[in-house]
Amino acid sequence: MKQIKYITAGLIMFSFVLAACGHHRDDDDRRDGKRDQHDGNWRGRRDIPAGSVGTQTPAIPSVVEVKVTESHKGDPANVPAGYSPMPRIGEMAPSFKAVTTQGEIQFPEQFAGSWVIFFSHPADFTPVCTSEFITFASLMGEFDKLNTKLVGLSVDGLYSHIAWLRTIKEKIEYRGHKNVEVTFPLIEDISMEVAKKYGMIQPGESKTKAVRAVFVIDPKGMVRAIIYYPLSLGRNFDELVRVIQALQTADAFSVATPADWRPGDDVIVPPPGSCGTAKERMEAQTDITCKDWFFCTKKIDKEKVLSTILKK
Ligand code: BEZ
Repeated sequence: MKQIKYITAGLIMFSFVLAACGHHRDDDDRRDGKRDQHDGNWRGRRDIPAGSVGTQTPAIPSVVEVKVTESHKGDPANVPAGYSPMPRIGEMAPSFKAVTTQGEIQFPEQFAGSWVIFFSHPADFTPVCTSEFITFASLMGEFDKLNTKLVGLSVDGLYSHIAWLRTIKEKIEYRGHKNVEVTFPLIEDISMEVAKKYGMIQPGESKTKAVRAVFVIDPKGMVRAIIYYPLSLGRNFDELVRVIQALQTADAFSVATPADWRPGDDVIVPPPGSCGTAKERMEAQTDITCKDWFFCTKKIDKEKVLSTILKK
């Protein structure tokens, strides 16, 4: 009789443990997120509030569902209706004709022979954009020496552009720059046709305003670098100048430029294409310094870099 009592008590405890384990496993699954077998939607990971510990069931909101839409299925060919696939590095910049504050332009053909920074900004009469335009305009001389033209775009009309640029000149001072005249073309793109062509409208950020995109286009019309910033973040203009200097140096000297490179810093000599060249390079007495066969640098004086890339 005593034995039967012990067995019954044991069975009851065992079923409690099983139930508890099952409960925790189910909770972990929901917390870590699972893809639904039927509709393919993610049942997202739930965040556990700070301080929730051990076996407590956290007091958390219901499961977050992230709908998998056609445009989010992970295939870059899935582009939302009305949008083109955005240009990529190494591809020719898509052509368009546009009305700008400097008259009509045919892009990029009209700029053949020059480097171009083609950039978008969210809207006229906004403070971050205003600070950027004053900075772009104040660097025109430096970009000109680098044979680089500027072309801006926003989803605003021509008269708004004109009024905003006049206001900037008449009223706004930024970091010691005042009476700044913006003389580079600013494209009107109310239809968003050009912005969509260049992936400048990123609907998760804004469906009506362009993000801060930067396309660096070379004298042959090829996209060489792309940088994107969100609406709230003004661009770093030292970096834009550095990108142009680095691309031009790479082209002129057949080298690559390492992290944080500036003219005068050592450049990277591209890795050898065969075992024979790797051995030769390690043994040769040249101006190249190798830390290992794949990591070789050489010096190019700042003067040599600048005299090569800057317009005389
Ligand atoms: C701005 O340029 O100040 C700005 C534009 C859109 C959203 C946030 C800021």
